Amino acid sequence: MWFYIAIFVFLAFSNGVSTDVPGKNTLFICFRNRLAFVDCPGPFNPPNNISTKVVYPVSNDTVTFPTGYNCVYQINVPQGWSSYVVVTAIPSSNLTNSPILQVIDFNQNVESFQYVRFEKFYFIAPGGRIKLSTQTTNVTFLFSVQWYSNLTVYQPTFLNVSASDTQPVTVDLSTVNCHVTAETRASAVTIPLDSIYTIEDQRSTLRSIFIFDGPNENTTCLGSAYQLFNSNRQFVSTGKTLTVVQLQPSTYYSSSILLIQDFENTKEIGQYRGVGSLGDLPIVMDASKQSSAFSTYSFGGLSSDCLVNITGTGTLDVYYGGKTESKSNLIASYSESSNGLNLPQKIRGVVRTYALTGGIATVQIVPNSVCGLLKHNVAGFITSREYKTNLTLRYSEDRQSYYSDGPFNYTLNIQNVDLSQNKSLSLSIYNNHTGVVNFVYNSSNPPSLNTVVSGVGNEMEVIYSSPYSNSKKGGFYIDFTATKVEKSAAKYFDFIVICAILWIGLF
Ligand SMILES: *[C@@H]1O[C@H](CO)[C@@H](O)[C@H](O)[C@H]1NC(C)=O
Ligand SMILES: *[C@@H]1O[C@H](CO)[C@@H](O)[C@H](O)[C@H]1NC(C)=O
Ligand SMILES: *[C@@H]1O[C@H](CO)[C@@H](O)[C@H](O)[C@H]1NC(C)=O
Ligand SMILES: *[C@@H]1O[C@H](CO)[C@@H](O)[C@H](O)[C@H]1NC(C)=O
Ligand SMILES: *[C@@H]1O[C@H](CO)[C@@H](O)[C@H](O)[C@H]1NC(C)=O
Ligand SMILES: *[C@@H]1O[C@H](CO)[C@@H](O)[C@H](O)[C@H]1NC(C)=O
Ligand SMILES: *[C@@H]1O[C@H](CO)[C@@H](O)[C@H](O)[C@H]1NC(C)=O
Ligand SMILES: *[C@@H]1O[C@H](CO)[C@@H](O)[C@H](O)[C@H]1NC(C)=O
Ligand SMILES: *[C@@H]1O[C@H](CO)[C@@H](O)[C@H](O)[C@H]1NC(C)=O
Ligand SMILES: *[C@@H]1O[C@H](CO)[C@@H](O)[C@H](O)[C@H]1NC(C)=O
Ligand SMILES: *[C@@H]1O[C@H](CO)[C@@H](O)[C@H](O)[C@H]1NC(C)=O
Ligand SMILES: *[C@@H]1O[C@H](CO)[C@@H](O)[C@H](O)[C@H]1NC(C)=O
Repeated sequence: MWFYIAIFVFLAFSNGVSTDVPGKNTLFICFRNRLAFVDCPGPFNPPNNISTKVVYPVSNDTVTFPTGYNCVYQINVPQGWSSYVVVTAIPSSNLTNSPILQVIDFNQNVESFQYVRFEKFYFIAPGGRIKLSTQTTNVTFLFSVQWYSNLTVYQPTFLNVSASDTQPVTVDLSTVNCHVTAETRASAVTIPLDSIYTIEDQRSTLRSIFIFDGPNENTTCLGSAYQLFNSNRQFVSTGKTLTVVQLQPSTYYSSSILLIQDFENTKEIGQYRGVGSLGDLPIVMDASKQSSAFSTYSFGGLSSDCLVNITGTGTLDVYYGGKTESKSNLIASYSESSNGLNLPQKIRGVVRTYALTGGIATVQIVPNSVCGLLKHNVAGFITSREYKTNLTLRYSEDRQSYYSDGPFNYTLNIQNVDLSQNKSLSLSIYNNHTGVVNFVYNSSNPPSLNTVVSGVGNEMEVIYSSPYSNSKKGGFYIDFTATKVEKSAAKYFDFIVICAILWIGLF
């Protein structure tokens, strides 16, 4: 010990900042740590009656710990058991530089905090540690541990993924006990989606879900769904199987999901994150060494992403589903040179994957409403929710509306549409609520593909309908442009419309 301190003293005073106060402070704390650790209680083991919750320091209330207090509390968890830990650490003055609390799990994964109030953690065998370092503040501190002699709460479900899948499997993170078998290896990515809940609740739900590298929960644990989210990587099984279990029932219905795919499709991807309610936007993607990807999710394809901005280098491929080798579900591809006119662009599908290759780019997606309001000229596309996914989504009408600030020349060019089983597609353009263009296509009145339909107005609507809500729909793809019409041209156009109305009125 003294040998290390001697080395430390040598380093602290030999780095050219010997008069530096922080250096001396560190040394001081270093001595104090050594004294404080001696008094730390623990390790904490399960009580004989495990229904009893163990609370530290006293059973009923928080206790204020003085400045300069350091302790590590070890929580032991037997093999096959789990524990539920709730920690409160409230400083009398918030420090901004270094954490007062660290929670370290069995995988030596560290989470640091300046302030926590009844924050929930989950430890599995062999357990974890809680580290309190009050530093220059007083800290009100309390934690409780509840042990459980099991890991799994729910009945298991089984699912398979294969390299030929274009749509990743989505596992709802509410009540999970899921055993995955992949064709090659299984890949998992967390997408947090519980935006109506507090960040603390979302964190604790994701912490309670563990991912194991094998056919059951007795295999190596890769980490929690929360660690997976923070890693910006995929968790990948070494063999064909992966197990996902939730330790405790969630206190609320979680809409967060785990994306499960065959690693054959995602093996090129280095950085891979799930974009949802946690984490920051815009998204910086570094594909300078390996592809970088992110995925978003919408239940039933009900909501869309609006891709507003791509800056940087590389090629961004957008898939309805997961990244695939065949690119059969590729919906758009953007490179530096295609920037500008083709954004904003509405992106649909259930899972959407944005994969960047060969560059570094910043990508911005915002809620769909932004794409529905046109402010400048655009050239993009419009699709139904399930186009290229081969998914059967339940709905009888899919309505998409676009509005513009003034008169725009809208053009629509249908490339592909499924009108089987009495499905229909209607295209309408309105100018100040007056219909300018209205076409309704069905199997007995199909559109001519690759033919431009245009009209000047300030509103456009595309409606895809099916009399059978649960029928399989192939969907549609339409090339779309909207070009601002100069005021004089608009006046001229109004004139033509008025003349036309008058002319029709004569008969
Ligand atoms: C164990 O503890 C629970 C709650 O503290 C209590 O209700 C139960 O009676 C205890 N069981 C035994 C066998 O002591
Ligand atoms: C908890 O503390 C309150 C006062 O803070 C006291 O009235 C109560 O009896 C305590 N309960 C237990 C179980 O110690
Ligand atoms: C410290 O930060 C927490 C959470 O950000 C806040 O609720 C609390 O009021 C702050 N405490 C002080 C003393 O500023
Ligand atoms: C910590 O608490 C003690 C005792 O209540 C008080 O004297 C001291 O000023 C407090 N220190 C800080 C940094 O709040
Ligand atoms: C596992 O623990 C949960 C939570 O206490 C309990 O509801 C469940 O019945 C337990 N399962 C088994 C198989 O003991
Ligand atoms: C998964 O694949 C196995 C073997 O190919 C098969 O027996 C099982 O029924 C499949 N499970 C599901 C849920 O499709
Ligand atoms: C995991 O190991 C425990 C203890 O060795 C055993 O009781 C349990 O049945 C095993 N579970 C599975 C799913 O193999
Ligand atoms: C796109 O990002 C660039 C760089 O951050 C910014 O200058 C530009 O205004 C952004 N465009 C839009 C439409 O948000
Ligand atoms: C589409 O899904 C159906 C099952 O609903 C399946 O039989 C068919 O092979 C799929 N087609 C493609 C191209 O994946
Ligand atoms: C819509 O009507 C208002 C007045 O009612 C007019 O000012 C505006 O220019 C019209 N817009 C278009 C796109 O014709
Ligand atoms: C709108 O665009 C179409 C297709 O480019 C063109 O044929 C038509 O003349 C345009 N209409 C107006 C009013 O500019
Ligand atoms: C389509 O609608 C017509 C007229 O309503 C009906 O006779 C026909 O059976 C329908 N076809 C299908 C495939 O549902």
